[in-house]
Amino acid sequence: MFSNHTPAPPDSILGLTEAWKNDPNPNKVNLGVGVFKDEQGRTPILESVKEAEAYILSSATTKSYMPIAGAPEYRQQVKALLFGAAHPVLAANRAQTAHTPGGTGALRVGADLLKKFSPSASVWVSSPTWANHKGVFQGAGFATKEYPYYDSATKGLNFSAMLETLSAVPAGDIVLLHACCHNPTGVDLSAGQWKAVAAVAKERGWLPFLDFAYQGYGDGLVEDRAGLLALAESCPEFLVASSFSKNFGLYQERTGALTLIGADAEATAASFSHAQTVIRVNYSNPPAHGGLIVSTILGDPVRRAKWESELVAMRERIAQIREMFVKALAANGVPGDFSFITRQKGMFSFSGLSDAQVKFLREKKSIYIVGGGRINVAGITAKNVEYLCASIRESLDLK
Ligand code: LMR
Repeated sequence: MFSNHTPAPPDSILGLTEAWKNDPNPNKVNLGVGVFKDEQGRTPILESVKEAEAYILSSATTKSYMPIAGAPEYRQQVKALLFGAAHPVLAANRAQTAHTPGGTGALRVGADLLKKFSPSASVWVSSPTWANHKGVFQGAGFATKEYPYYDSATKGLNFSAMLETLSAVPAGDIVLLHACCHNPTGVDLSAGQWKAVAAVAKERGWLPFLDFAYQGYGDGLVEDRAGLLALAESCPEFLVASSFSKNFGLYQERTGALTLIGADAEATAASFSHAQTVIRVNYSNPPAHGGLIVSTILGDPVRRAKWESELVAMRERIAQIREMFVKALAANGVPGDFSFITRQKGMFSFSGLSDAQVKFLREKKSIYIVGGGRINVAGITAKNVEYLCASIRESLDLK
């Protein structure tokens, strides 16, 4: 069983962190995995999270199993954060949420559920997309296809090509859409473009599967739900995978959710019961701690206000880093207009660096960037920005 296997390749994102940890270069910089970092390069625990944890520790009375779909308070809070508490979809009981281990867990539970319901469907992902998306859906047995998204010439969205392809996706196929802070490009749809995509989904009859991993990291908690609201307006059915890794900094607690929206309460409840079966045979029921943190914070106005201000501070810091990075590129003689970096949303910048340049930066400069040129902007600090930009300048000679 376990002889004659060559090692699997390291993960293209998480593997970089391992390589960076083992790198002895004192100037090494990790711009790979998408985690928020402060000016000292640390990924801090939010104050609101620490306070909620202290409260949970002092008030907890049991470690008994969670329900298969997670705690009712958490499930309610997640739905309200996604849609807004007064949304008609919630009032009509058309949305059911399960607590999953992270956003990745939500994608995989959703994929396994869809495989049960529609085994011969294809899953369409943006070109490019998060490095793990194809793996998750292929792991569930789906064929994946791509729709156009990023235009490297304009460093923006190729919306006409995207819409043209989505207009030809067969009914019953599944289209994965990034709700905001597109990973890896940082290029998002406008509210009007979301409406057009939602209209095509309705007209064609394909199922939208929204990956919502960065709510609050784009323009704000409310602004970032524009895509979700457009889908809710037009589409009778869709799925949402959401995550609290980034907006609560709960990366290692694996705190996410799968939300299923059906045409009516009865259809939703019946389909959701199958999601619970998928969960039961995979990991039985979710890990409790991260969900308790989230519901403790969202359920209390004072805690919630503190968390929201911490989220604003993280978003604003990334915006400042984008400005600093663009200035430092110019100051280091990197030719070109990099103002697009300040327009990208979320943690990432799709830098346009070639594979050879990414390799040079890693091997010669100990600067770790995801293949394809995705930079975690949050990893840039006042201390490493000069070294980074001077190294990028050197890498250009490789073109
Ligand atoms: C990323 O894209 O860097 C994050 O979503 C972390 C991960 O799991 O890849």
